Amino acid sequence: MPATVLVGTQWGDEGKGKFTDLVAKEMQLVVRYQGGHNAGHTLVVNGETFALQLVPSGILHDHITPVIGNGVVVDPTVLLAELDMLEAKGIDTSRLKVSGNAHLIFPYHQEIDRLTERRLGNAKLGTTKRGIGPAYADKAARVGIRVQDLLDPKIFRAKLDVVLKEKNQLLAKVFNRLPLDGDEIAAHYLDECRPRLEPHIADTVSLVHESLERGEHVLFESAQATFLDLDHGTYPFVTSSNPVAGGVCVGAGVGPRYIDRVIGVAKAYVTRVGTGPFPTELAISGDAVGGKDRELADDEEIRLGDHFVDVGHEYGTNSGRRRRPGWFDAVMLRQAVRLNSLSELAVTKLDVLDALDTVKVCVAYDIGGTRHTHLPYHQSDLHAAKPIYEELPGWNTDLTEITEKHQLPPTAEAYLAFLEEQVGVPVRLVGTGPGREQFVHRGD
Ligand code: IMP
Repeated sequence: MPATVLVGTQWGDEGKGKFTDLVAKEMQLVVRYQGGHNAGHTLVVNGETFALQLVPSGILHDHITPVIGNGVVVDPTVLLAELDMLEAKGIDTSRLKVSGNAHLIFPYHQEIDRLTERRLGNAKLGTTKRGIGPAYADKAARVGIRVQDLLDPKIFRAKLDVVLKEKNQLLAKVFNRLPLDGDEIAAHYLDECRPRLEPHIADTVSLVHESLERGEHVLFESAQATFLDLDHGTYPFVTSSNPVAGGVCVGAGVGPRYIDRVIGVAKAYVTRVGTGPFPTELAISGDAVGGKDRELADDEEIRLGDHFVDVGHEYGTNSGRRRRPGWFDAVMLRQAVRLNSLSELAVTKLDVLDALDTVKVCVAYDIGGTRHTHLPYHQSDLHAAKPIYEELPGWNTDLTEITEKHQLPPTAEAYLAFLEEQVGVPVRLVGTGPGREQFVHRGD
């Protein structure tokens, strides 16, 4: 029963979309199992750029059924706009299936997300303000409204009225805001969104199992990444779902025995958006939410930080926010290998290192004078961790035209071999540019 998981191993934005698209070619079903439109996958296909937030990237292949699993939180307005965008580009979206058990995002979730961030001031998390956290909080508190509730307007309205009563109290009394209008929300969700969503709503658990039983290949695609995981990430600077591979079991309804391949996507350097600890962070000359203080950096560090942001185009797909850059961190990767049972790695954006004379890899942390090769359990230690680097020779070669393993410069190959040795899993795929064809297959 060949089920594959593709998961981000850092703080998101590893370039998962490109490899999801590549791996998806061999799949019949591509399933999103968590997150919402806080994700942003950019795919460049035949020179055309597709920025996807909710729809699994498998939509770009005619033979694939793209599935939004029960673990996802769905903003129907965003989903329908995305379908319109794809249709306008000639993509048939009728194959998309959406779990009836997925939870809906409402305007009050977005409003509370925005207001909470504002109230937190300097202590803010740097969320995407898409209402993701509040929607998952309602799911856990059992006052969420699910996609299937759209199919029963009476139930939908009754649930909305109950929850809106509480949300409006919160908006008025805590945040001093005007209440939201239940009639307006119900009209939009039931009259405008429901008729268009209805053909897509399905029992996705059965769909996934029937596909696996037929011996088809199923890909489970994560959004965000390992260190944004609600349980295993750098809490509270995390998202509100479980991107780790185990999240598939809950977010798509399959047991762990079905999963036989777990591909971890890691960028050849690291970026993070929003606040939170980041041991290998480099300062940059511009501003980034939670970014490192420039006063603590020398010119060379800022030059490198700017290099990663500018050459790597490290600006949020959705938000346009500048990402915080840093060197590759093998300590984090070792933890990601454990948390996800990774069977292999796909390293993205190796070409961003092309012009560097030397490249660094963080192999351990110095915490209070002690060397740590694994992630410290106490987060205060992570905040205090100083990276211990190994410096390797660069390749000073343009990799963007390279598509075969034997064409890789020996120093680039040595860098990849070093990563493998450090984290203990093979690097099978290497990204050498943004285009669909710009990659090297290093072996099975
Ligand atoms: P939320 O998911 O909007 O609640 O944001 C929580 C944290 O996750 C913030 O630090 C966000 O910047 C981060 N985050 C959420 N989605 C992504 C993503 O797709 N890529 C990178 N970071 C993300």
